[in-house]
Amino acid sequence: MYRTKTCGELRLADAGSIVTLCGWVQRTRKMGGMTFVDLRDRYGITQLVFNQEVNADLCDQANKLGREYVIQVIGTVAERSNKNPKMDTGEIEIIVDKLNVLNASIVPPFTIEDDTDGGDDLRMQYRYLDLRRSAVRRNLELRHKMAFEVRRYLDAHHFLEVETPVLIKSTPEGARDFVVPSRMNPGEFYALPQSPQTLKQLLMVSGFDRYFQIVKCFRDEDLRADRQPEFTQIDCEMSFVEQEDVLQMFEGMTKHLFKYIKNIDFTDPFPRMTWADAMKYYGSDKPDIRFGMKFVELKDLTEGKNFGVFDSVPFVAGICCPGCATYTRKQLDELTEFVKRPQVGAKGLVYVRYEANGNFKSSVDKFYSAEDLKAWAERFGAQPGDLMLILAGETMKTRKALCELRLEMGSRLGLRDKNVYAPLWVIDFPLFEWDDETQRFYAMHHPFTSPNPEDIDMLESNPGAVRANAYDMVVNGTELGGGSIRIHDSVLQDRMFKVLGFTEEQAQAQFGFLMNAFKYGAPPHGGLAFGLDRFVSLFAGLDSIRDCIAFPKNNSGRDVMLDAPSPIAQAQLDELSINVCLKKD
Ligand code: AMO
Repeated sequence: MYRTKTCGELRLADAGSIVTLCGWVQRTRKMGGMTFVDLRDRYGITQLVFNQEVNADLCDQANKLGREYVIQVIGTVAERSNKNPKMDTGEIEIIVDKLNVLNASIVPPFTIEDDTDGGDDLRMQYRYLDLRRSAVRRNLELRHKMAFEVRRYLDAHHFLEVETPVLIKSTPEGARDFVVPSRMNPGEFYALPQSPQTLKQLLMVSGFDRYFQIVKCFRDEDLRADRQPEFTQIDCEMSFVEQEDVLQMFEGMTKHLFKYIKNIDFTDPFPRMTWADAMKYYGSDKPDIRFGMKFVELKDLTEGKNFGVFDSVPFVAGICCPGCATYTRKQLDELTEFVKRPQVGAKGLVYVRYEANGNFKSSVDKFYSAEDLKAWAERFGAQPGDLMLILAGETMKTRKALCELRLEMGSRLGLRDKNVYAPLWVIDFPLFEWDDETQRFYAMHHPFTSPNPEDIDMLESNPGAVRANAYDMVVNGTELGGGSIRIHDSVLQDRMFKVLGFTEEQAQAQFGFLMNAFKYGAPPHGGLAFGLDRFVSLFAGLDSIRDCIAFPKNNSGRDVMLDAPSPIAQAQLDELSINVCLKKD
């Protein structure tokens, strides 16, 4: 037997027993005639002791051990005189009798410690070493536990996990597809699924009325902290359901995860907010409601005082930052620089300090009297000591900028505690999004999302006003999941395609398989998908989903460890009937 115990399980009660352990040498320390080795495996670290006076040969062997050597030791568990309360095994050590080097290691390129000296790139290049660090390993353990609890919950609710193919035809999600050439069908390509959307709908037609799959999805889109080109969805679909049934089921799943993974009981229903309110009060379809500072609109109160900046735009709104009236000129300048960044996009920032003595000091004193500012303060519900920050411009752009400012102020004021969770459903999304560039409507979610029955009459006459039967689960400003009730009626689906500008032939060519299937008795159905990577990162308090993925890609979509993507051999290209001709621009 290679080992009888792991490096994480021995305690004082085991003192006196003889054990065999295996693991990696974390560090060796020589103190006088004693040599101490920290032996690490997946489960923890155990201290090994070698005594020069008792066994000089063995101690010499120990002194030669390098970092990350793989060793096996046989020894006796003993109580430590110098206990380490920070370690689970800190009360014991192993008096080693026998040492086997199972494998040597060259010097690792960075230290395998929680606080490593390795930079991001180096750690990604040697990800297999990075994964030895307990901080990263814990994230993968959490990921496993969460996937397990998801399966436990969904199995108990009669969901069936069904695998769907990875080589498919292009799916109608918003991003670009990754494509795979077909050798047997020269000049033709598979697409990797952006999600199994159409396949899970076909499974509903097949009568699998509760489907789920923990499944890899692929999207060729610009990457951010919460986006990877390949990521994992908890993908779900149900038949014979309305929106309320889906929300209940997956609110239940989310609560189950909070309870069994984080030990947090959410007893009240999650709040629900319409998309319109989310935009109006938070400037985002994924509001962080851990804190208030809702938007307050001021356009009507600011008009007619000859302040051109406000008079010339359709939208003026702000937030009230509690206790911030003491902000210095320098801090306000910093915030002005912040809102002017291209990613935020505002032209400038107006502030009003409601000072503790009840006076107002603002950057627009020239135009607005104390009375005017008092009226603003009343609308904000501001108290003496508060600071009002105001932006103006085109409505949606200004809301977006104010959203960034609100989040920035929330962070500065310590109101975005990672250990506080504020989930909500955002509902009533618009069915369509207008695109100025192409001058047409696009499906905001996907073309199979059903309109809110109350709005169906406006489908052709006023598409922009039609609400969808679509919903997102948002926690702490992150979109964890989203879905919709689908169209299962082919007449309505035809109308939808028409509004989206598809000819019958185009619709048939792209989605014929689904439309035909719907002719054979499609049940009413709906579902949603959660991003597993985002869910795990949220629970682990991570800033990037990369840290909960074993082998992630970097921001340019590269796997720096495998060095992928990479050119392929001419012979492979020939087999695929492909000529590579790179465009120069
Ligand atoms: P959607 O496109 O909203 O819906 O995706 C569902 C969830 O998947 C996660 N997600 C991502 N996570 C990491 N990296 C990415 N690039 C990425 N893109 C999406 C998010 C998101 O909420 N088929 C529909 C679902 C449905 O209607 O049932 C879909 O894919 O957490």
